[in-house]
Amino acid sequence: MAAGKGTRMKSDLPKTLHQVCGVPMVELVGRAFKAAGVEKPVVVVGHHGEQVEQALGESYAYAWQREQLGTGHAALMAESMLAGFEGPVLVAAGDVPLLDPKYLKSLIDTQRKTGATCVLATCVMDNPFGYGRVIYDAKGVPCNIIEEKDADPETKKLKEVCVSLYCFDGRHLFRLLKTLNTNNAQGEYYLTDMVKAAYDNGGTTVTLPTDNVDMLQGVNDRWQLAQAAAVLRQRINRQLALSGVTIIDPERTYIGLDVEVGVDTVIHPMCTISGKTKIGSGCEIGPSANIVDATIEDGCTVLMSQVNGATMKAGSRVGPFSNLRPGTVLGEGSKVGNFVEIKNSDIGQRVSLSHLTYVGDASIGRDTNIGAGTITCNYDGFVKNRTTIGENAFVGSNTTLVAPVNIGNDALIAAGSVITKDVPDWALGIGRGKQENKEGWVRGWRARRQK
Ligand code: UD1
Ligand code: MG
Repeated sequence: MAAGKGTRMKSDLPKTLHQVCGVPMVELVGRAFKAAGVEKPVVVVGHHGEQVEQALGESYAYAWQREQLGTGHAALMAESMLAGFEGPVLVAAGDVPLLDPKYLKSLIDTQRKTGATCVLATCVMDNPFGYGRVIYDAKGVPCNIIEEKDADPETKKLKEVCVSLYCFDGRHLFRLLKTLNTNNAQGEYYLTDMVKAAYDNGGTTVTLPTDNVDMLQGVNDRWQLAQAAAVLRQRINRQLALSGVTIIDPERTYIGLDVEVGVDTVIHPMCTISGKTKIGSGCEIGPSANIVDATIEDGCTVLMSQVNGATMKAGSRVGPFSNLRPGTVLGEGSKVGNFVEIKNSDIGQRVSLSHLTYVGDASIGRDTNIGAGTITCNYDGFVKNRTTIGENAFVGSNTTLVAPVNIGNDALIAAGSVITKDVPDWALGIGRGKQENKEGWVRGWRARRQK
């Protein structure tokens, strides 16, 4: 269920698209469903539903809830998609992002084994505020759920809560959903009322309590979002650590759920590594690296730098204080030092770009040295132009390469040059004012000033 607006988030983005460790909440729920064996989960969408559909893509089916009349009404919207389905139907809210597939499986198994009309996931929370409370009859059979807003002071003291996760018998689900009403504090159709509906209609209701409370945290506001992220972050870091990655300070390391890291890589504090990033083995990452959608092969170093949409080949290094932007490929063993920005460029093997350089829309051959302060002038105000530099070339410091321009193999550019014409292989390119020394000039100048 992901049709709600998520008023408490105070956001223009629909609540379930808010991300936890780089993945929208509703997708995390969907992934858990898939891992539990659900082939194509049905997502109930409504508020900004197109956005939710777009974010989740085609591996999900969508049921529209045009008017958000409550969670009971939301579940009913899936009726036509599940027509004729008589097996167990798992239902969850899209704002419970940390679900464990094993627990989902056990809900399904319990439904199959007991034949219950409703298997209700529950847990005991120290602070149950905001959650529906589970009510049992005298025989200990779950017979109702009372929402926070409908609860009297005695009910509010109960700590076993509904976490908006159920497994229903598909043969009775939609029939019973149609019996729900809106006689409650919020004037909504509550899915929680299904427990009472099943109980009153002679169905079996059971609870499947778990003590893994973290996994069942619901996210209704941004503070709960931050808390859920903290839990998932710790899970991710722990899993990486156990798989052979050294994480110096897990509390200060922010790694996205889809990031891969190889063994013996060391991740220093204050790194954020996100998107579809892949890091090889034996790398040194951080401190203070920001890495997004990057491919970093074995034995690389990223120190206090940003690597975004770039590839670093084996043994290459970057930093401190540099920025590899999208479309950059840094060749094997190449070295990018401090205050260097590279965009959409192919850098060969063992190239040095050690200081204060901008390289944009360029290719640089192997073993070339780019001196401090080299700038490719790729943009003429209308289009981006390319610079190519050959192999084993030497570009002197403070060179301006006005693109489009080609520098040959083994060419040498004199420091301080403004290069506007191609430089052939083995040539010296020099484009700067000639130096003149005026012998003794300073003496006369000082004498004039001191008068
Ligand atoms: C719900 C439960 C509450 C439980 C809590 C656990 C109900 C009535 N209450 O409360 O017992 O303790 O979850 O987290 O079910 N949604 C729709 N359409 C709607 C309304 C909601 O799709 O018309 C979706 C929302 O997008 C959301 C989910 O259902 O993903 C739950 O809605 P929310 O408003 O967050 O319910 P809670 O107040 O958290
Ligand atoms: Mg909620």
